[in-house]
Amino acid sequence: MSGATILDGKALSSRLLAQLRERVEACQARGVTPCLAVVLVGDDPASNIYVRSKERKAAKVGIATRDHRLPATTSTQALLDLIASLNADDSVHGILVQLPLPDGVDEQRVLLAVDPRKDVDGFHPDNLGLLMLGTPRFVACTPQGCMRLIELAGVDPAGKRALVVGRSNIVGKPVAQLLLHANATVTIAHSRTRDLEAEVRRADIIVAAVGRPELIRGEWVREGACVIDVGMNRVDDGGSKPKLLGDVEYAAAAARAGSITPVPGGVGPMTIACLLANVVTAAEATCS
Ligand code: GUN
Repeated sequence: MSGATILDGKALSSRLLAQLRERVEACQARGVTPCLAVVLVGDDPASNIYVRSKERKAAKVGIATRDHRLPATTSTQALLDLIASLNADDSVHGILVQLPLPDGVDEQRVLLAVDPRKDVDGFHPDNLGLLMLGTPRFVACTPQGCMRLIELAGVDPAGKRALVVGRSNIVGKPVAQLLLHANATVTIAHSRTRDLEAEVRRADIIVAAVGRPELIRGEWVREGACVIDVGMNRVDDGGSKPKLLGDVEYAAAAARAGSITPVPGGVGPMTIACLLANVVTAAEATCS
């Protein structure tokens, strides 16, 4: 039996979406319907699932979406042209370029081309720089979702040891910044970290975002720690469908943690809610 509080990201995201619906209605009363343009290149199955889920939730709260599905052979220049047209379109408030982009597309050039005021993913260097300075504009959605879940756990990061496992630009680095701004003592572990177990054992807060199934053993987790698992690893275990596993060995970690996110139903739904919140914020900026 687990003693941990299960951090229900699905329920928390539903509450956030209900609040968003009110903000969307206020925009609409002023003649503005928040609109997200989604650019999906190629046919990565995981990306397809994410994009469909984003569009469904957007529709639920009254956010319009515009789909741009392009073949994997699309050139960098064609993408840059599309983004330029979305930047110039006043009815589009947010632009999301689903990652990863196919090999051969210059991802950095594409992300740099998005108008930073429409960059609801928070991936543009201007937005990453503002986050680093502690004056954020758009903050990447998964890191925001992680912080909301830590808040839900009733954990104040101030003075605590926070361990971020993974150093990606879209999760690890920005969530480390958010934890730092919340006054945690932050360590970032990665594939070259010498003794991951020792780092995990001393952490009060663990954010796991490496994309390696159950890399973090439950027995390493400190009693009472807050565990946020960003991992979404599809593992073929011989069953009819691949199994979805986090980066943390869930059952054993839940027996020791103070609070823990399930996979699925933890971070995933929060990412989408935070994305849609960024879209509404972008739209509100145009109607004030
Ligand atoms: N691929 C995996 N996560 C994300 C995300 O949060 N945003 C985008 N655009 N692509 C992703």
